[in-house]
Amino acid sequence: MNFSKISSLKGTLAVPGDKSISHRSVMFGSLAKGTTEITHFLKGADCLSTISCFRSMGVQIEEQDGTIFVRGNGLHGLKRPEQVLDCGNSGTTTRLISGILAAQPFDVTLTGDESIQKRPMKRIMDPLSLMGAKIESVRGNGCAPLRISGAPLRGIHYSTPVASAQVKSAILLAGLYAGGETRVTEPALSRNHTELMLSAFGADVSTEGTTAVIRPAEELFGQRIQVPGDISSAAFFLAAGLLVPDSEILLQNVGVNPTRDGVLRVFRQMGGDIETVKTVCGGGEPAADLLVRTSRLHGTVIGGDIIPTLIDELPVIAAAACFAEGETVIRDAAELKVKESNRIEAMVTNLTAMGADVRETEDGMVIRGGRPLHGALIHSHNDHRIAMTFAVAGLAAEGETQIPAWDCVDISYPTFLEDLKALV
Ligand code: S3P
Repeated sequence: MNFSKISSLKGTLAVPGDKSISHRSVMFGSLAKGTTEITHFLKGADCLSTISCFRSMGVQIEEQDGTIFVRGNGLHGLKRPEQVLDCGNSGTTTRLISGILAAQPFDVTLTGDESIQKRPMKRIMDPLSLMGAKIESVRGNGCAPLRISGAPLRGIHYSTPVASAQVKSAILLAGLYAGGETRVTEPALSRNHTELMLSAFGADVSTEGTTAVIRPAEELFGQRIQVPGDISSAAFFLAAGLLVPDSEILLQNVGVNPTRDGVLRVFRQMGGDIETVKTVCGGGEPAADLLVRTSRLHGTVIGGDIIPTLIDELPVIAAAACFAEGETVIRDAAELKVKESNRIEAMVTNLTAMGADVRETEDGMVIRGGRPLHGALIHSHNDHRIAMTFAVAGLAAEGETQIPAWDCVDISYPTFLEDLKALV
């Protein structure tokens, strides 16, 4: 796919449903009694992987007029899948499902694509094993494929070395089935969709600072879920609206859960004109209409507790920082190295190819903004967020930006090009 400089972006957009919430709606709906009805579900490849895993464990999931209906099997109703569970490219599917599978009365193997088979799974294997789970990496390298044999679990208090909602959620889901209470303490608070949603499904979950607490559940109950727009997808159009001259974009119904809204805080701190027009709150997940206008940005420092609240948006923030006056420092973000690709390396090499002044550090990067960028051949590493980040950079750079491995965008934002065209 090729992108070149455009003169303006104007219009209104409703970005697709939130990926994290879509995954959890299907997972928790599968474990609940009764039907869970999901509207604005993200039909990206990752969430389709979650649907396919639960279908192969006997859960009936169908779509009618754009609404997803999950006919839950109850907490103890999953069936042993006949084949290896394929989690595709999805870390959320792999890690969260492992927490559930650890407690089921059957054996299962799960795996995913080339990228998933390189991502660290020891971070869930360690705490789940402490709970009594039987989980092993088939190749002994701490990565998928994972073989999990259901076992009786016990509650633990686990302090995770990384702030990761996927790790926290895997432990909490295992905790649904464990004897006694399970506590997870994080170094900084990661997204809390699991806590909010499990509580709405009837589980006994509470939060004390950066500690999430769950007690075993007897039953979960099907819910009606309206998935808000994904702030991680909106971030590309926030950045494009800020960078492309003469732009004004209204992004409707964007999820603005405070554990996810770091990108808004950072863009505003950089001088970005992003107005919150209307806020609504459904099912504990706040959403807002956001109006973004072209802005003159300046550099900033991003690090510490804000990192988990914008971890997926750091690539596009880094691209925006190249167009800002002065220096931007991103630190405490070593987690970027173990996402769908090594996002620090992918950002630094591709931005450098476009003429940016950017330097890789141990846990982030330093960007000296204000140099004009030019088009280049971009290596997306089949990472959806890298591909879309460089589409945005290409809209503001001189010349043509080529992104050959573009299809990966289907992971989280299959309608990205249509949405972009509607604003041109
Ligand atoms: C997610 C958590 C984050 C994020 C990922 C989705 C989730 O990963 O990067 O895209 O849905 O829980 P970590 O929890 O590993 O940081």
